[in-house]
Amino acid sequence: MAWVILLLLLVSVCPSSSLDVQDLQPPRYNLSLDRPPQERWAPVLRHYNYSYLREALRYVYDSSVPKWAHALILPLTDIDLALLVKEPYAGEIRGIAKTLGVSPGDVLALNLAYEATAFCTSIIAQDEKGNVYHGRNLDYNFADILRNLTVELNFISNGQIKYTGTTFLGYIGLWTGQSPYSFTVSGDARERDGKWWENAIYAFLKRSSPVSWLVRDTLENAKDFQTAVLHLSKTPIIAETYYIMAGAHAREGVVITRNRGGPADIWPLDPLSGEWFRVETNYDHWINPPPTDDRRTPAIKALNATGQANINFDSLYKVLSVIPVLNNETVYTTVMSAAYPEKYTTRKRNLKEGHKE
Ligand SMILES: *[C@@H]1O[C@H](CO)[C@@H](O)[C@H](O)[C@H]1NC(C)=O
Ligand SMILES: *[C@@H]1O[C@H](CO)[C@@H](O)[C@H](O)[C@H]1NC(C)=O
Ligand SMILES: *[C@@H]1O[C@H](CO)[C@@H](O)[C@H](O)[C@H]1NC(C)=O
Ligand SMILES: *[C@@H]1O[C@H](CO)[C@@H](O)[C@H](O)[C@H]1NC(C)=O
Ligand SMILES: *[C@@H]1O[C@H](CO)[C@@H](O)[C@H](O)[C@H]1NC(C)=O
Repeated sequence: MAWVILLLLLVSVCPSSSLDVQDLQPPRYNLSLDRPPQERWAPVLRHYNYSYLREALRYVYDSSVPKWAHALILPLTDIDLALLVKEPYAGEIRGIAKTLGVSPGDVLALNLAYEATAFCTSIIAQDEKGNVYHGRNLDYNFADILRNLTVELNFISNGQIKYTGTTFLGYIGLWTGQSPYSFTVSGDARERDGKWWENAIYAFLKRSSPVSWLVRDTLENAKDFQTAVLHLSKTPIIAETYYIMAGAHAREGVVITRNRGGPADIWPLDPLSGEWFRVETNYDHWINPPPTDDRRTPAIKALNATGQANINFDSLYKVLSVIPVLNNETVYTTVMSAAYPEKYTTRKRNLKEGHKE
């Protein structure tokens, strides 16, 4: 009898083993910009098992930081860090290292490791009323681990949300963020070759900014869309990238193709000429993507099929759920619109386990 009940239980449990929506929603925490940088992350990390975090970060680190770079970065002391890295990032790295009981060099290397390897899709689109939407998929190796580390953060200053972003625990930069009523921004990698580390460390020592730190700087300091576009176009960065931005007003939308030293191309929305959306994956928009990794054409087809009259948060999320725009390396999808900051939504995705919604 007990066996029958057990079997019945198994039968009824297994088919519904796909997670419910709650599990797809990453936690959201406040991070106070009014605290000293060293003390900002502990209240967020406290919600997690430090041993698990150490193991997860170690795995990402070992798989992505080349051995020679280990040797260079690992022995860095707090004093070296202060000389190499500007505030508040040096302090935040020191604080995370202290909380988790690892070396600051480890945390710095981990932060650099993510820089050039995010294969993503970003879309901006304007509806017929002039609302501008912005969506992104973040695709990454180690997606299984990174889903567990994904969080939404409100960066708080004087009791107000200064900006919001989605990131991974241990990672202080942002690839996805929103300055309320002002602009939204996402970054997609542009470099994919193995020489990347050498160049990056060289550039870093020349005081260029990591790509994702510039996103945070911009969210923190730029007072409007135009200022943010200028800042993201011109500031030297350590790796080539695409910055995709949308504002709170009609026609505010742009894809910035970045060289390290400055802009390679600026590609605005042009809804008056019928160009009501832009899609950027990991290839320059003026050349065809390789057939082996064409996420652009399926995204454009889906947007064409949706139509400008029907674009909104839900339909944009659906476009980002079309395979292979959504693929087995997709860690999360975010949809946002600067004019409606409370609608900022991130969902963890797991195609392998059938989390389509
Ligand atoms: C914390 O994580 C470690 C490593 O994954 C695990 O061995 C341990 O059981 C976890 N502790 C708790 C309280 O869950
Ligand atoms: C993610 O977290 C879940 C729940 O804590 C755990 O069971 C799973 O093993 C973790 N996955 C990875 C790849 O660390
Ligand atoms: C986060 O900060 C906001 C704005 O100050 C506040 O309203 C909210 O209660 C805070 N949430 C938590 C969990 O502390
Ligand atoms: C999308 O629609 C535009 C305008 O009608 C058309 O030029 C383009 O070929 C379409 N693209 C795809 C991939 O369907
Ligand atoms: C992920 O997708 C690619 C391409 O569709 C496939 O070749 C690969 O086997 C998949 N990997 C896993 C772990 O499912």
